[in-house]
Amino acid sequence: MELSPSSTVLFLLLVLFGAAAQESPRLPAAEQEAAYAALESINSGVDWRFLYPDDLCLSGPHGLLCDLFSDPSDSSGAVPHIVELNFGFVSDFSSNPPCGPNASISPVLLSAASSFPFLRKLFYYNCFAASRSPLPTRPWSLPASLEELVLIQNPSLVGRIPPSVGDLPRLRRLVVSGTGVSGTIPDEIGDLPDLEQLVLSRSRFRGPVPSGLGRCSALKILDLSANRLSGRVPAELGRLARLVKLDLSSNRISGPIPARLGRLSRLEFLDLSNNRLTGGVPTALGEMRGLKEVYLSGNPGLGGRIPEIWEGLGGILGIGMSGLGLTGNIPGSMGVFLGNLCYLALDNNLLEGELPDQLKRLEASAKEINLANNSLAGRIPFSAGFVDRMRGKLKLTGNPKLCVEEEESGAFVVLLHFGL
Ligand SMILES: *[C@@H]1O[C@H](CO)[C@@H](O)[C@H](O)[C@H]1NC(C)=O
Ligand SMILES: *[C@@H]1O[C@H](CO)[C@@H](O)[C@H](O)[C@H]1NC(C)=O
Repeated sequence: MELSPSSTVLFLLLVLFGAAAQESPRLPAAEQEAAYAALESINSGVDWRFLYPDDLCLSGPHGLLCDLFSDPSDSSGAVPHIVELNFGFVSDFSSNPPCGPNASISPVLLSAASSFPFLRKLFYYNCFAASRSPLPTRPWSLPASLEELVLIQNPSLVGRIPPSVGDLPRLRRLVVSGTGVSGTIPDEIGDLPDLEQLVLSRSRFRGPVPSGLGRCSALKILDLSANRLSGRVPAELGRLARLVKLDLSSNRISGPIPARLGRLSRLEFLDLSNNRLTGGVPTALGEMRGLKEVYLSGNPGLGGRIPEIWEGLGGILGIGMSGLGLTGNIPGSMGVFLGNLCYLALDNNLLEGELPDQLKRLEASAKEINLANNSLAGRIPFSAGFVDRMRGKLKLTGNPKLCVEEEESGAFVVLLHFGL
């Protein structure tokens, strides 16, 4: 751009005037103070006020994020507010404010909604690992703006999730995983209309899976694995039309798998393994046309036969049905319809009879097949080349009546597995 001397002066004046007029509005003082309190509560060994004396939205620690909000009553224009607070170690490349040995959750966060009226995300990763840090016993009072509450890998975080968590109208993500948090899962979580992800895993939750969760119509991920949950799988979960992942594994859940789960037409991942389920493999699984992985292993009382449900489930990549007390034959339809199957585990059951020839079709996709510890008999249908290629990934031991033919240097070697 060519500028005459006079227009250059005018231009500079405009720039200077503009800068003065747009003296950026500051983070409200109360929010700045609340942020210092939050930082001090996770690490009292750091002098946060000394390190970050200025407006925390302009020069604050990583992990503290702000956004501008226009305030019609304020002529100075948009005002900054804190929208995200991320604490604790994530990786060497993340510089979230680090947590100290005495980290706790400041009362300004969970009990004073007014401290951060625009907060969308509150995130603690690997923060409470040393001394016990209890969640507040009073009902939480979080800002209505909150969309994500994430507490991951905080083993010394204890306490309970109060029913008031159901009062957060915008909550999309509630994650409490790898913690010492206990108590029952509040049924009020069902009141969260926008909840997409509910992960309450690897903690100490007990009591039932609340049937109220069936009201979370936006839910895509429901993971309550590795707790001490008991009772039944609520049939109401069949109403979660958008559910993609359902993981209730490693709990103490009993009773049958409800047929209404068959309505989960978008479900891709189902893990109910390591529980106390009974009543057999439900034929309703056959209605879950989007299914990619299904794990039921480690429910020794499940029993029954492997149902003929595989037509229409050609998208399945993995099936875990070990240790279920399954009886009867392996259906040939599994070989016919499961054209993408990588992983098949039917070991440690009571399966009997010959392996159907159709299973040979699994050779095209299979990476691991475990049929060990059953009562299977006869010859195996797989080619010598496949057996060779799979090596340890094809497990057939513990089937005394099964004989494996293997072509080796031109000669057939018959390997009998004497109950190994
Ligand atoms: C942690 O808390 C204990 C007990 O309150 C105290 O003795 C100790 O000095 C604190 N440690 C740090 C690093 O603040
Ligand atoms: C078969 O059963 C034996 C004895 O219970 C066990 O040690 C072995 O790990 C089982 N094999 C497989 C592949 O599960």
